[in-house]
Amino acid sequence: MSQAQEKHLKDYAKPAFTITHVDLNVILDGKNTKITTTSKVIRNGEHQHELVLDGEQISLGSVKLNGSSADYRQHDNQLFIATELNEFDLEVVSLLDPEANSSLEGLYMSDGAYCTQCEAEGFRRITYFLDRPDVLAIYTVRIEADKAAFPFLLSNGNLIDKGEMPRSGRHFVKWHDPFPKPSYLFALVAGDFDLLNDSFTTQSGREVKLQVFVDKGNLHKADHAMASLKKSMKWDETRFGLEYDLDIYMIVAVDFFNMGAMENKGLNVFNTKYVLADKASATDDDYHGIESVVGHEYFHNWTGNRVTCRDWFQLSLKEGLTVFRDQEFSSDVGSRAVNRIQAIRVMKNQQFAEDAEPMSHPIRPESVIEMNNFYTVTVYDKGAEVIRMMHTILGEEGFQAGMKCYFERHDGQAVTCDDFVNAMQDASGKDLTLFRRWYSQAGTPVVTVTDKYDADKGEYHLTVSQQVVSKGVKGQTLHIPFSLELLDNTGESIVNKVLDVTKACQTFVFDGLNHAPTASLLQDFSAPVKLVYDFSIDQLVHLMRHASSEVARWEASVQLISQTIWHNIAQLQQQQVMTVDSRVIEAFRGIILDVNLDQALVAEILSIPSASALIEQVDSVDLDALEKAREFVVEELASACEDELLARYRELSTLDAAGARAFKNIALSLLCQVSDVHESVVEKQYYNAQNMTDCLGALKAATSAQLTCLPALLSDFESKWHSTPLVMDKWLTLQALINTDDVIVQIKQLTKHNSFSFSNPNRVRSLIGAFASANTYQFHRADGEGYRYLTQILIKLNKSNPQVASRMITPLIQFAKFDASRQQLMKQCLQELKNLPDLSKDLYEKVTKSLAE
Ligand code: TRP
Ligand code: ZN
Repeated sequence: MSQAQEKHLKDYAKPAFTITHVDLNVILDGKNTKITTTSKVIRNGEHQHELVLDGEQISLGSVKLNGSSADYRQHDNQLFIATELNEFDLEVVSLLDPEANSSLEGLYMSDGAYCTQCEAEGFRRITYFLDRPDVLAIYTVRIEADKAAFPFLLSNGNLIDKGEMPRSGRHFVKWHDPFPKPSYLFALVAGDFDLLNDSFTTQSGREVKLQVFVDKGNLHKADHAMASLKKSMKWDETRFGLEYDLDIYMIVAVDFFNMGAMENKGLNVFNTKYVLADKASATDDDYHGIESVVGHEYFHNWTGNRVTCRDWFQLSLKEGLTVFRDQEFSSDVGSRAVNRIQAIRVMKNQQFAEDAEPMSHPIRPESVIEMNNFYTVTVYDKGAEVIRMMHTILGEEGFQAGMKCYFERHDGQAVTCDDFVNAMQDASGKDLTLFRRWYSQAGTPVVTVTDKYDADKGEYHLTVSQQVVSKGVKGQTLHIPFSLELLDNTGESIVNKVLDVTKACQTFVFDGLNHAPTASLLQDFSAPVKLVYDFSIDQLVHLMRHASSEVARWEASVQLISQTIWHNIAQLQQQQVMTVDSRVIEAFRGIILDVNLDQALVAEILSIPSASALIEQVDSVDLDALEKAREFVVEELASACEDELLARYRELSTLDAAGARAFKNIALSLLCQVSDVHESVVEKQYYNAQNMTDCLGALKAATSAQLTCLPALLSDFESKWHSTPLVMDKWLTLQALINTDDVIVQIKQLTKHNSFSFSNPNRVRSLIGAFASANTYQFHRADGEGYRYLTQILIKLNKSNPQVASRMITPLIQFAKFDASRQQLMKQCLQELKNLPDLSKDLYEKVTKSLAE
């Protein structure tokens, strides 16, 4: 790897030149695609520097300055232009071959359509440019292509011209985006689609045209995305007072896409996974995912597009804030508790893991080799938690005042995370000096709580201490909003408040208590920290029954079941018999029978923590003992509650609601862990399913219990769905997750199946990504076969799609918790990758950082 250059936040400098206007003339012609870019360039301040433009994987046609050929040189993906002019027009002609672009970055083809992906640094694969987010320009884009093959020609902003070139069978359009934007928000799409039209009238009475473009034949699957878009637009007006600004909003769904979706101004490009849905083919979770991603991209219009990032180190400025906004949207239009639980799971299972591995970074990273490696759960989800803490500290009113101030100050600018916190601080009057450290400090803080009750004084003392160690370095004290509820022994709430923890160790005293209370600590995960407190079984059972917060009730159950599993791992290690305390069983039964609980919440509570979630709770793991102990606890709980589960299953089967389906399907999975006699229930549910949720629920139950009917169900599923790729992805994932010793052999076979393709990221993630990240026992096989198989795949993807390779390496660099033998096997694989002659920057960064540990 030759040009792996690390960039540092501290080296930020304003650009020497800026570009205020860009005219693109895009002649789409397959391998001979030609793009002429005319930029109005202005020197920034007084200096003699050359103009330096970025460009990658394009061939340069010509460079003209004010119409005459320019004095330039090329070196290492950059173009240097010498001039003394302070203002000039620069014309660059670039030639590219979108058909050969398998990286899905820049201009590429997805199923016969041209499309672009520019964030973070893909615009430089389209033309030589000042490809950095603090250069904001007004774009005018002319697109020309064959009319029959590409009837729709789309770009950002408003359509201002179109015409035909009848003799050649070609046509053209011209788009103008009046809002200055950074190059990463540029987009272009050309293809043939089915189009769903609608409109939205904004709060000020402007009519906005809404369009969703999908592959031919999928029009009937676009309604939910459209409904989600309208819901998002309405919600942003109501909750944040933010209105859409252009006259048109377009969403295009493409099958070949590296991530979920992209917020290009006025022209979002989406992974089909987050657009297409109907009852037969999409699950309730898919519906929910679509609503949240459509919301996310829409909310970026203000938090990301109108106000953007000064540099890529500030990515969380837009992503953390926009995830916070999409989470609030989902919570306001759906179940707040269930949405919060899902967000907490992502934090505890994925973000904590990332913060403990070699790529650990603060939400505002300080150094980066490949920017694509920093679209992480840390920047996105921990970033959202940091925004949420500010919301907790300031309250909704203070927070909204801060947002208003932020937009008043920075609309149309490229700014920093500090600018955001300043607006929050100035508008609310709250001192956020200490709080800012959340932006610069990596690692998960550990908050240890001890308590004592003084019967004589009637006082309860709660001591909270915090510690963060990241990569061996002790961190600074943070401002932690610590939400607490105290329950008396009848379950009444006696205290419910947020404590401001601002010291390394702090004691809070509560008086007037006539007995020791039970504490619900860090309610609703009020800060992204690890809580350490020695809960007794009785305390957890009390919290499961009585905590005011539904999220806290779920937290207590996770804690209770996890403790039970850890207890049994210890039993196994000491060659003692495994047991489950009857109080745990009764608490579990109590949840199944509590008809007052929201069914979706019950489903969350009954979901036994996955192996990977459990691994996250400890510093080192005995995987074989974990597998046995977890299985034992699941079987004990399920068999003790078999009658109740079956009764609830039958009742819930008559209801048509997502919550009921979630509960029912968890119940079915648990029943199958008890005995094969429930196999007939699974088959019946599968064959009678009226929707994909029930169909997949049956398949999941059959898969995890490895029922004998599984092969027949899978082949029936295949015959029904073989021509619907997004549904076949589910079929691939089911098989990738089977915990049998021949699963890798099976996966290798599946890579040859018609429904699989290494060039499509959704397929690769569904099969190989799912295996590596979620088939914990098989990926971590003691013989290292799981690691070696993933490595083979990464070697292949390193060339064709480095972004996807780099995202899939995650389980291989999270080696720290495993035994020495597994660690060695994992590192051998990393070493093999490191030795590749053509290692991409993406993998290079992760592999070298991992091996340096
Ligand atoms: N900005 C996008 C979002 O959060 C995600 C994104 C970043 C992306 N880089 C990408 C999407 C590359 C696709 C490809 O919504
Ligand atoms: Zn985003």
